[in-house]
Amino acid sequence: MNLLKPPAPQVRPVPRPSRMLKHGERLLEPNVYVADLGGRLAVIKDYSRYRWTLLAPFARILVRREARVLRLLRGWRHAPALLGTIGGLALGMELVQGEPLDSDTLQAAGTQLFQQLRGAVASLHAAGITHNDLHASNILVCGTTPVLIDYASALRTPRWLRSLPLVRQLRRSDLANVFKMQQRLTGEGPTPQQAAALAEPTWVRALRDGWRRLYRVIKR
Ligand SMILES: Nc1ncnc2c1ncn2[C@@H]1O[C@H](COP(=O)(O)OP(=O)(O)OP(=O)(O)O)[C@@H](O)[C@H]1O
Ligand SMILES: [Mg+2]
Repeated sequence: MNLLKPPAPQVRPVPRPSRMLKHGERLLEPNVYVADLGGRLAVIKDYSRYRWTLLAPFARILVRREARVLRLLRGWRHAPALLGTIGGLALGMELVQGEPLDSDTLQAAGTQLFQQLRGAVASLHAAGITHNDLHASNILVCGTTPVLIDYASALRTPRWLRSLPLVRQLRRSDLANVFKMQQRLTGEGPTPQQAAALAEPTWVRALRDGWRRLYRVIKR
């Protein structure tokens, strides 16, 4: 046996797309598509165009992080089930039979939808996870149930760090995003108590503006 011979790379081919959901065009954006994964239809988030590039380690981290959060949320009806990772640069998850949150899906689901959504975000936070990218296209309405997708930016904080100002702010920001969607789609804003709980400290506003400017430059 030749011990110097490098082992064959363990690259499982990613499945062939049957329906494209989103072309990754910007930096570290995955291709997202529907494909057959072991006999069942799945959604694949695929970063394999970064294989053999300097960005591959970052793409692997994104896959690992999202898979880890989905694994933690297994069995929760407000998140798709993780089906597995594929070769480190792609992950497969349950295909949610729903449509993004908009005025039509809201009308079909009924006004309880936002109450459910707030409840779902509160449970996520209670599990120590912040989503950090809550907007209408990351919420699929499945019948009357909101399903939160896209955990690429999610953060899981250990229990002993959960009362840090930054982590509290991430939770506040998730809830503020829910209220923004509610305001836009129903015209109903937060109650005065809810608004007071959501108010941002000045240091947060300064940080947020800085990050937004940087993000625009990166994504350009
Ligand atoms: N599990 C799923 N079931 C059904 N549709 C999905 C699912 N996951 C993603 N999609 C669809 O694909 C679109 C893109 O997926 P996603 O939001 O995860 O990617 P992204 O925004 O490009 O990700 P990232 O923020 O990681 O760059 C979603 O807006 C949604 O329409
Ligand atoms: Mg998204």
